Amino acid sequence: MEKNKGHDIREMFDGIAGRYDLLNHLLSLGIDRRWRRKAVLCLNVKASQRILDMASGTGDVALEIARRYPQADLIVAADFSAGMLQRANAKIRRAGLGQRIFPVAARCEAIPHGDGTFDGAVIAFGIRNVADRSRGLQELRRVLRPGGKLLVLELSTPANPPVRVLYHFYFRKLLPWLAGFFSRREAYRYLPRSVADFPDCDQFRHLMEEAGFEIVAQTPMTFGIVTLHAAVRKG
Ligand SMILES: C[S@@+](CC[C@H](N)C(=O)[O-])C[C@H]1O[C@@H](n2cnc3c(N)ncnc32)[C@H](O)[C@@H]1O
Repeated sequence: MEKNKGHDIREMFDGIAGRYDLLNHLLSLGIDRRWRRKAVLCLNVKASQRILDMASGTGDVALEIARRYPQADLIVAADFSAGMLQRANAKIRRAGLGQRIFPVAARCEAIPHGDGTFDGAVIAFGIRNVADRSRGLQELRRVLRPGGKLLVLELSTPANPPVRVLYHFYFRKLLPWLAGFFSRREAYRYLPRSVADFPDCDQFRHLMEEAGFEIVAQTPMTFGIVTLHAAVRKG
């Protein structure tokens, strides 16, 4: 069941890879760049550190890390969609960062790196899509060194009732309609469903604790439509 779900999600991302960046910036009015920058800022990378950008998509987080932290030793941009990775690869080469960012085909539930390989990791708008979320978080913990940081950036439902009404209208009605002109409408119908199914902050904190993380902060951004969950690997 989870295998099938993972397969369908991978196919969906392969199908929208070509228009993914355009739609991201368009539908979020460009605010998505600010969200990623904030997550990367919280990583606070030191000299010679190794960083993982899991569910990297077209590589925006990995590129931001490389630009902001020239002192980082290496950055791995991992994703299970070949279409997304191809886009990431092209952007990394265009930016001249091929010596510092390494795209890797990998599932979050089975990361092909040894225990404690990374000093820090980010997963931006990815964990919601991971079919076996607990397993994915356990794997992220395994590949981080003890004390290593994990930043999870994820869409969330605003708490304020009037904002929530507007948000639901935009997300459930307007967004799939707009997206249908540029990309696969079905993928943008999946988006609000996946956010509605995603655990709230308390449930997600619990899930992360079960996987061996200690939550340091859960910071809502832009009226709570996105939350940045900052955690460290325990033990
Ligand atoms: C919404 S995109 C986010 C991409 C990027 N991090 C960003 O900030 O734009 C979600 C990404 O997660 C990837 N993904 C979903 N499930 C995954 C899994 N189980 N393992 C690895 N990648 C996965 C998809 O292929 C897709 O590229």
